[in-house]
Amino acid sequence: MGGATQDLRGRTCLVTGSTDGHGKAVALALAARGADVVLHARNREKALAVQAEVARAGGGKTPELLLADFASPAAIDRAVAEYLASGRPLHVLVNNAGLVGLSRRVDEAGHELTFAVNYLAMFRLTLGLLPRLRESAPARIVNVGSDTYKIARLDFDDLMLERDYGMMKAYGQSKLAILYFTLELARRIEGSGVTVNAVDPGPVASNIGADNPGLAYRLVGPLLRNFFPSAARAARTAVIVAADPALDGANGGYYRSRKRREKPLDFDPETSRRLWQTSLELCGLDGDPLPAR
Ligand SMILES: NC(=O)c1ccc[n+]([C@@H]2O[C@H](COP(=O)([O-])OP(=O)(O)OC[C@H]3O[C@@H](n4cnc5c(N)ncnc54)[C@H](OP(=O)(O)O)[C@@H]3O)[C@@H](O)[C@H]2O)c1
Repeated sequence: MGGATQDLRGRTCLVTGSTDGHGKAVALALAARGADVVLHARNREKALAVQAEVARAGGGKTPELLLADFASPAAIDRAVAEYLASGRPLHVLVNNAGLVGLSRRVDEAGHELTFAVNYLAMFRLTLGLLPRLRESAPARIVNVGSDTYKIARLDFDDLMLERDYGMMKAYGQSKLAILYFTLELARRIEGSGVTVNAVDPGPVASNIGADNPGLAYRLVGPLLRNFFPSAARAARTAVIVAADPALDGANGGYYRSRKRREKPLDFDPETSRRLWQTSLELCGLDGDPLPAR
């Protein structure tokens, strides 16, 4: 694994949270390999600046923009509808957008914000775009997780952390949900021509957490960043999983430091089924578009 020269000409790649940090680095790297990049963003001004950078990396090809605040389920649905109506193919979906929250906040639906933006938005967007991924197959989904899932558990009695909120508890829970989602989705789409894998970029010198109110994060963040790998370096694992021909057909894996990690968790089918069903309900989706086989 790790060829740096994959040719992505003719491949359309959507990267969520592409206006900063890891997502922006992934978008730049995919564009440099010739991909038609679609930049997802919640902030139009930031998106326009990144659009120009990605166009330069792609030899002048201007990437499309897809705007949606992931704290708004209605906005995600509009983005899905817009993408499907555009008729564009979708060969690679990099689910990268994410946040950490020092204190408990909620999205428009009243769901705890870390869980909602990091995980539920990914669930909703991916299921919405799956028909286009299938039509465009072979296609890949890359979910950006984090090893912090190892310190987390899914407490179905308090998924929204109303009783006991903690920043790392919320973040780790969202990343554990992403890993379960990846493994469950992999089982459900096996053989369809669409594959899904998760990655942990490792520490990233990014702005994550900078939008939290208060001084603490704004003071500590820049200090920590000095010790972390650059976003471009951290993005290498996601780019490999998105694009390396050696991974054609690879499904249901978890990658860190450019290597597949075997058995990242003690997969519990009952927890997985319950999370899937709960996610459908939290997203207000009627029926199951992908019943378990
Ligand atoms: N930083 C690390 O050390 C680290 C380690 C492991 C995994 N990760 C994961 O890597 C991914 C990217 O994080 P990063 O470190 O690159 O952080 P970042 O620099 O803060 O970038 C996060 C991206 O997500 C977007 N985003 C945040 N909230 C959003 C919302 N409500 N709706 C739509 N988009 C939203 C941001 O948009 P704006 O530009 O508008 O804010 C930005 O484009 C996350 O999934 C994170 O969990 C990071």
